[in-house]
Amino acid sequence: MTNEQYYDFIQPYQNASQMMHTKLEILNQNLYDKTSAAPIHNLQERIKSKKSIEKKLQKLGHSDSVQNAKDFLKDIAGMRVICYFIDDIYNLVNALKRQNELIIVKEKDYIKAPKPNGYRSYHVVIAVPVYYLDTMEYFPVEIQFRTMTMDLWASMEHRVCYKKMPEHRETLAEAFCQYAEILGKIEEQFEAYNETGMLEEI
Ligand code: GTP
Ligand code: MG
Repeated sequence: MTNEQYYDFIQPYQNASQMMHTKLEILNQNLYDKTSAAPIHNLQERIKSKKSIEKKLQKLGHSDSVQNAKDFLKDIAGMRVICYFIDDIYNLVNALKRQNELIIVKEKDYIKAPKPNGYRSYHVVIAVPVYYLDTMEYFPVEIQFRTMTMDLWASMEHRVCYKKMPEHRETLAEAFCQYAEILGKIEEQFEAYNETGMLEEI
């Protein structure tokens, strides 16, 4: 993949991501009646770099062509939505599911079923329509919804465990399982301050 091919390739993903960003901003302002209860603490987004695309395709056993990137990678556009409370996550996801123009491509609820290492997050891949002069095409955006507590754990785990030598891995894994448990307990206590709760599904 040349640099030029890469920049042309990511353009529509960037557009799809911008549209999701706006949708989330609108929901953040309108999800609850009380403006002081806005569900999103912060929103991060990134477009996968050329290097990571090539690395991921190689890992999957495919050549690094634009076509393969399009066919096999669903996280070219990635967003992380950090919320205050767990209900905020489900309320936002349900609100997005009600938007007819969006298609849910993939969903993984690591909050209801955390990974064995303690990772918690709600992952969803949403196809967003991008309109051209006389055609339309869907582009996937991967969104990870987390509470601040979940994000604290995941960010530290990624930072500390990712590149560590195998001999340190076991002790670290044990430590991070414990952190997950402690943070889970803290989160339960934070949940008591939630004044909004779960919205009724329409
Ligand atoms: P890939 O997207 O190919 O990694 O696999 P997948 O489709 O099975 O995705 P999954 O939903 O398991 O996770 C994808 C992304 O979630 C990763 O790129 C990370 O950003 C995040 N993630 C998943 N598991 C972990 C974890 O154990 N620790 C941390 N820190 N992040 C994780
Ligand atoms: Mg991924």
